[in-house]
Amino acid sequence: KKIVVLISGQGLNLQAIIDACAGGFVPAQISAVISNKADAFGLQRAKSAGISTQVFLRRDYADNVAMDAAIGDYIQSLQADFIILAGYMKILTPAFIRRFEGRIVNVHPSLLPKYPGLDTYRRAMAAGETEHGTTVHFVNEEVDGGAVIVQAKVPIFPDDDVEDVEERVKAQEIQLYPLVIKWLAQDRLTCLDGRAYLDHQIL
Ligand code: GRF
Repeated sequence: KKIVVLISGQGLNLQAIIDACAGGFVPAQISAVISNKADAFGLQRAKSAGISTQVFLRRDYADNVAMDAAIGDYIQSLQADFIILAGYMKILTPAFIRRFEGRIVNVHPSLLPKYPGLDTYRRAMAAGETEHGTTVHFVNEEVDGGAVIVQAKVPIFPDDDVEDVEERVKAQEIQLYPLVIKWLAQDRLTCLDGRAYLDHQIL
């Protein structure tokens, strides 16, 4: 199978995916890493691994639809099977999501449906939560709203700061996300009528 990974930042999840593909845990090849930020550190990670990179900047397009159409055309030209969002911080247009329906996954740092959107750590801590976590989900037109595939929980301790919780969550993400991508590459994971299935069982 072929995948593309979309990033905007440091790329810790990307690194885990690169390693999982290179080591054979995930039976897939990363056809390209795509970023909407020219200075995303993840681009260096891709280059170090010998993976092609492509940057799409919003300012080069008339609108978001035109930008996503260009990204979509590129992904289609690579004949990629799945689109992996790994810290891609720009909301994809409905047209893009429909074009690749059921073939886009995302990792979000909260126990969805709690805390969609930005700044989840601060918000969870401000609300006095004693646990937080991460969710891998299919992407639909609702931001952070698609069918949940897997979640991992971590504790929030009274003396924690945001960085402590973030580190705990990321340690879970880099385990979970490669596992989900493995299932995708093995054709064991599907999305039907807003629900995720693994080996035809509802998750
Ligand atoms: C991850 O925590 C992910 O949950 C969120 O963005 C972050 C990306 O981090 N969507 P990295 O670029 O993988 O280090």
